[in-house]
Amino acid sequence: MNLVTGATGLVGSYLMISLLEENKEVKALYRSSKNIEKVKNIFAHKNQLKLFDKINWIKGDITDIQSLYPAFENIAFVYHCAALISFEPKDQKLLLKTNIEGTANIVNFCIDFAVKKLCYVSSIAALGDAKEGEFIVTEETEWNPEKKHGNYALTKYGAEMEVWRGHQEGLEVVIVNPGIIFGYGFPDQGSSVIFNSIKKGLYFYTKGKIGIVAVEDVVQCMLLLMKKGVNGQKYILIAENSSLDTFIFSIADALGAKKPSIYATKTLTEIAWRLDWLLSKLSQRKRSFTRSTSLSSHSKDAYANNKITTELNYNFKDMESYLTNLSLLYK
Ligand SMILES: NC(=O)c1ccc[n+]([C@@H]2O[C@H](COP(=O)([O-])OP(=O)(O)OC[C@H]3O[C@@H](n4cnc5c(N)ncnc54)[C@H](OP(=O)(O)O)[C@@H]3O)[C@@H](O)[C@H]2O)c1
Repeated sequence: MNLVTGATGLVGSYLMISLLEENKEVKALYRSSKNIEKVKNIFAHKNQLKLFDKINWIKGDITDIQSLYPAFENIAFVYHCAALISFEPKDQKLLLKTNIEGTANIVNFCIDFAVKKLCYVSSIAALGDAKEGEFIVTEETEWNPEKKHGNYALTKYGAEMEVWRGHQEGLEVVIVNPGIIFGYGFPDQGSSVIFNSIKKGLYFYTKGKIGIVAVEDVVQCMLLLMKKGVNGQKYILIAENSSLDTFIFSIADALGAKKPSIYATKTLTEIAWRLDWLLSKLSQRKRSFTRSTSLSSHSKDAYANNKITTELNYNFKDMESYLTNLSLLYK
């Protein structure tokens, strides 16, 4: 049987559809039944409501050890998709607890319950740092501890360390490092919020690069890597490295929204994140533009996908038409 953590999230939902389509049995970890409804909507969108009823839902939290025992009974394969995705500086403690401690718990349970293989969903945020003047990041690029990393990146990197520790203790593992994942569902969270922001009208744009991928491709690669005799490897999952201006303009076109007209220079985004910090302190509101967002909005780094495309002979979806179709669903 397969265990999916983060089953009420974007990746977990699509992964369960694919596992169930292959007639695999699925146990799904959830924290709140109200979030199960969102998953049902995705199954309905994919015309797979009959598969939804086959899910074996288990209530549990990856940071609560006692709750994980029933989840791990009779499990051969674990897909660990649960994580906190937050770029809010005030979420530092929760990020550490959820992403590092939670992953350590999953790894320990996999070892104790003699799980056959663990697939961990990491992120390109946990990859190494391109050297000065080289703008390409691969699975081999080394992490530079002297460079400033945001809390989310640090905790995804820390979580990977827990997975490698488990591997050294004998656990078969594979790690995937997706870029920004797009997919239908969850309009108010994750990458989907980009569509609403563009629809409302953005004033500024930058020309940094972003690595993007469709959720269906992430899930297909995970399944193929779990079936293949791959062990102790990590794979970047990126369909393309898009320039932020091209990306924003093409979504604006598809949504029929006004395109942003002001190019935000590095100086402007530096001022913007400081202003955002100040306003959040004065008004107790959530941060909307942080230092790490400012830095990444100008990043020239591109992510190489040669390892996965070569080893799996895999072709990623064309993101331009994928995003255009997705935009129409959010119009
Ligand atoms: N989305 C992206 O663009 C992106 C890009 C690269 C990598 N990733 C990685 O891909 C994975 C899946 O991302 P996603 O987009 O599916 O995220 P998501 O939609 O935000 O879902 C996160 C999932 O994790 C669960 N979760 C959070 N804390 C938990 C805890 N303490 N115990 C149990 N479950 C917990 C959430 O449950 P609740 O419903 O109860 O909150 C939810 O099911 C994550 O590891 C993320 O870091 C995502």
